[in-house]
Amino acid sequence: MNEDVSDGWAESAAAWIVEQGEDGDYGRRFVLDAPMRERIEGRGFRNALDVGCGEGRFCRILQRAGIRTTGIDPTEALLARARELDPNGDYRLGRAETMDFDAEFDLVVSYLSLIDMPDLAASIAKMVAALRPGGTLLIANLTSFLTAGPPEGWTRDSDGVLRFAIDHYMEERVAWVSWRGIRIQNWHRPLSHYMTLLLDHGLQLRLFVEPTPAGGDPGRNALHLRVPYFHIMEWQKPA
Ligand SMILES: C[S@@+](CC[C@H](N)C(=O)[O-])C[C@H]1O[C@@H](n2cnc3c(N)ncnc32)[C@H](O)[C@@H]1O
Repeated sequence: MNEDVSDGWAESAAAWIVEQGEDGDYGRRFVLDAPMRERIEGRGFRNALDVGCGEGRFCRILQRAGIRTTGIDPTEALLARARELDPNGDYRLGRAETMDFDAEFDLVVSYLSLIDMPDLAASIAKMVAALRPGGTLLIANLTSFLTAGPPEGWTRDSDGVLRFAIDHYMEERVAWVSWRGIRIQNWHRPLSHYMTLLLDHGLQLRLFVEPTPAGGDPGRNALHLRVPYFHIMEWQKPA
């Protein structure tokens, strides 16, 4: 079976690679990377599993922090780029829902990939299984406020003022989103859906932050201050 997904990732891979470059796209570069690096550096993590690693940028960041990495992703073209940039790296074709790791990682990371996974319950169960007791699950995700936006999201009201419309917040659903040659599916789920699944595994919440931009373009940053785009959560598996 072709492991490439019909969610737009195979077709969007080339544009995604351009969009990320080595510094990451706007949200990664000016909002998420700094607080994500703070969570991995100097913590004594020896190995990490990056679930939905894409073209491997965060694996390379983890390695620079002295952490051995395994990246897993279902999009062949992104894995090919990851291997090209990091020929000695460990990159595997697969989905979160069906991966098979047994309590072997100090750290499991999902960097903006939970919104891509159709079966969240199965994905989280596999991430928890991959963690050793006492291990850390580090998640950067789009907020559920943001994912409740499409198809409207940012639109101009009748006075021409930019507004962000949220609707059907409690309804889990998938939407196509497109920008600069990328066209993919993102899942919306209420925040309680994520929290309940993580709590049901007995994980303990150690950190919850809604990072704001540092540097970048003031006009773009103003939108991030009006509507929270991202959150970072760190959960610990009981020892
Ligand atoms: C928004 S990208 C994030 C990539 C990378 N983590 C980063 O931050 O640059 C989401 C990634 O999730 C992957 N993905 C899609 N469905 C997945 C699944 N079921 N399990 C694991 N990864 C998946 C996509 O191929 C894509 O690489």
